[in-house]
Amino acid sequence: MPIVDAEQYTESLHETDEQLEQVLESVRTNGMPEISVKPGYGRLLTLLVAVSGARRVLEIGALGGYSGICLARGLGPGAVLVSLELKQEYADLAKRNLTEAGFGGIVTYRVGEALHSLEELSAEGQTFDFFFIDADKGNYPKYLDWALRLGSPGAVIVGDNMLMHGRSMDPDSSSPSVAAMRQFNERIASDPRLQGVVLPAYDGLAIARIR
Ligand SMILES: C[S@@+](CC[C@H](N)C(=O)[O-])C[C@H]1O[C@@H](n2cnc3c(N)ncnc32)[C@H](O)[C@@H]1O
Repeated sequence: MPIVDAEQYTESLHETDEQLEQVLESVRTNGMPEISVKPGYGRLLTLLVAVSGARRVLEIGALGGYSGICLARGLGPGAVLVSLELKQEYADLAKRNLTEAGFGGIVTYRVGEALHSLEELSAEGQTFDFFFIDADKGNYPKYLDWALRLGSPGAVIVGDNMLMHGRSMDPDSSSPSVAAMRQFNERIASDPRLQGVVLPAYDGLAIARIR
């Protein structure tokens, strides 16, 4: 197949990741939405977790565990991943896939509304040094607030899909979730508490560090 764009070209440089392909297959066969993070950003997540030396990672939105495996691959010994997921059956599949990948012992799933789980984590005094936000778009600004609350200076915050397939920059799009995403993106770029950048490849990725 001829290579037609930059994303295909960069993907073609990497070998097929059989473990992650199996996760995608399990998502398909279970009739779940095919909205796992793109392979290039999955590799970036692994790299960011590794270079940040994160010890406690919080993921918001597990689906079938694709990004969970990418995050876990970057962790050193003794580090943990907590993942928040709305649906029990999704969390169950993610847990199976992470266990298959050898990360069953370091991941914990909390099922239900992420905003509720975040309240619980806060009440328990839990803190994190890496956040991956990849759930319902309308709550991204609230998830960012929670990351600022549960994270300390130096913590990394990553958010996927900030372009919303072009809707974030379409003046004719004005749904509440688009408005929320625009607010999230503007804060990544200009909130004085953050040092942030927004990458436009795939569906857009926001990366920030708490100052
Ligand atoms: C884009 S998918 C996550 C993909 C996953 N991060 C990956 O790359 O493998 C979004 C996930 O967020 C979950 N979700 C949606 N709304 C949620 C909420 N309010 N609280 C917790 N999880 C939610 C969905 O059930 C879905 O599994």
